[in-house]
Amino acid sequence: MFYWEKRSVEHDPESSESGDRLLSDTSSNHSLGGDRPRRWTSVLWPGRYLHGALILLYTVVYLILLSTIPKPSCSTSETTRPHLPLPAREGLQWEERKFPTDIVDNPFTGNPRDELDEAWHKLLENDNIRVPKDYLDERNLRSVYTKDGTEGIASLSVFHSLHCLKKVKKMLFKEYYHAGKSGDAMAREEKHVDHCVEYIRESLMCQPDLSMVTFRWINNTAQHEDKSAFYPTNFDVDMHRCANWEHLDSWAGKRMFNLFEVDLLERPEPSMWDGSNNLKNGT
Ligand SMILES: *[C@@H]1O[C@H](CO)[C@@H](O)[C@H](O)[C@H]1NC(C)=O
Repeated sequence: MFYWEKRSVEHDPESSESGDRLLSDTSSNHSLGGDRPRRWTSVLWPGRYLHGALILLYTVVYLILLSTIPKPSCSTSETTRPHLPLPAREGLQWEERKFPTDIVDNPFTGNPRDELDEAWHKLLENDNIRVPKDYLDERNLRSVYTKDGTEGIASLSVFHSLHCLKKVKKMLFKEYYHAGKSGDAMAREEKHVDHCVEYIRESLMCQPDLSMVTFRWINNTAQHEDKSAFYPTNFDVDMHRCANWEHLDSWAGKRMFNLFEVDLLERPEPSMWDGSNNLKNGT
């Protein structure tokens, strides 16, 4: 989106520059022909009108074409038409960074506490987003839709993985997060987490991170009983090629849909519904 704006800004001086060059070319032609008889110039006059007319025509066509180029200034269009533009890897901001891998002073690690719950909650705030129905249709995807039928609700897969990771974290502290759950509810929870581990596994393998996790000889390790012995222990110090998360998250934030606002969604008539994600007529 920025590119269009940049190009049109850059385009103007360029075209006027080349226009200047064209002008100076013609004038140099004239100076070359300066010692030619005067009648040459008068012969050139009708041609000049023609050139003038053509330049005018081209200018008008150029301006018309320019006005048809959509000029979505990023800030306004993203707030007023929050479902556009659509997610594309080219739209991400890529950067090289290291993973902190620190479990001290990290809101996502450690025992259950308000700070931890808030950090995970905030991470998943933009889990569900509104997507144009056309976009889903093009991909043969079906979802639940807003009342006006123009948008479907979806999650970016990365948010689903993060949701799953949160589920795993909670299971690590099930006495706290699942206290008082019945055996039945707990069995459902365990199945959900099993699905989640599977989803994260698929997701990691789908987008392999190829940075190198290297080793060092370390004694006094947490894993080994013999504290004086040295073992090869791995350390993640390599640079990772990462999408800027804040940028992606803010994209999702502008399309966020709160699933608790279920009344904003078109609910199919029970007669049309077969209880799964399929309408009875199969569409
Ligand atoms: C680990 O090795 C260092 C020497 O490199 C030594 O000073 C230290 O006492 C060792 N730690 C343990 C727990 O054996």
